[in-house]
Amino acid sequence: MTILILGGTAEARELAAVLVGYGLDVISSLAGRVNSPNLPPGRVRIGGFGGAHGLADYLRRQQVSAVVDATHPFAATISANSLQAADRTSTPLVRLERPGWRGHPRSGSWTWVADGAAARAAAEFERRPFLTTGRQSLPDFHPWADRDVLVRLVDVPTDPLPQRWSLIRSRGPYSYTSERHILTAHGIDVLITKDSGGTHTVAKLDAAGDLGIPVVIIARPERPQVPHLETVAEAIAWCRSVDGLRFVGRSIP
Ligand SMILES: NC(=O)c1ccc[n+]([C@@H]2O[C@H](COP(=O)([O-])OP(=O)(O)OC[C@H]3O[C@@H](n4cnc5c(N)ncnc54)[C@H](OP(=O)(O)O)[C@@H]3O)[C@@H](O)[C@H]2O)c1
Repeated sequence: MTILILGGTAEARELAAVLVGYGLDVISSLAGRVNSPNLPPGRVRIGGFGGAHGLADYLRRQQVSAVVDATHPFAATISANSLQAADRTSTPLVRLERPGWRGHPRSGSWTWVADGAAARAAAEFERRPFLTTGRQSLPDFHPWADRDVLVRLVDVPTDPLPQRWSLIRSRGPYSYTSERHILTAHGIDVLITKDSGGTHTVAKLDAAGDLGIPVVIIARPERPQVPHLETVAEAIAWCRSVDGLRFVGRSIP
């Protein structure tokens, strides 16, 4: 009896660790976007499935008993594919998605936009933006070759950045002190980010707020209607409810 976790998030890794600790057969699936991903315990596969059809075939071949879609809140395509594949194969599916930052005490002061192009328009008059919207959104900001953009990414981007831009390569979590230091040391005048949610990367929003730096934030994309949980503990309880999955003893992650 196998559980497939569609991963790429800290929550997915945490869930895999607990379920493996309970003696379950867990396959974590990663897209393969970063060069050296943090690997969860259990089996790991890397790379796309070939759309919803490919994922449905995979579920059949691996005799997957349940799927937890624990991908990032902005990874909308794989979520849509997992819903279709689960429907086609009658595999139980749940979505594990950390709450967003709409509930943050300062969220009312941020400029909420729908996508990268709208974020660029909202910050058109700033000269030193800090861009933490991820590699895939970079083309939206390339017209800003004339300003001193600071970009933070996990890996070096495949396409070269405009000459005036600077790159910080790092992976969260980030502390309030280090985020505040980045904002002041680089003279940042606007923070552009996306509603990833959670605690690992929230410090930049607190630091920007305290420094009076405006925030432009890309809202989460629309998602298919799938039963939706917010915490790893809820996802474990859901897995316990799936017919046939046998939990052994106490989990030692
Ligand atoms: N988007 C973000 O901001 C972000 C941030 C942090 C981490 N991530 C992680 O990075 C991965 C890719 O994100 P994305 O925004 O490019 O996704 P996406 O747009 O939803 O997916 C594009 C394609 O990538 C493949 N894919 C995505 N996630 C996969 C997974 N976990 N396992 C196997 N294949 C996967 C699928 O290819 P096929 O159609 O060929 O199956 C999917 O159709 C996700 O797993 C996500 O959790 C994303």
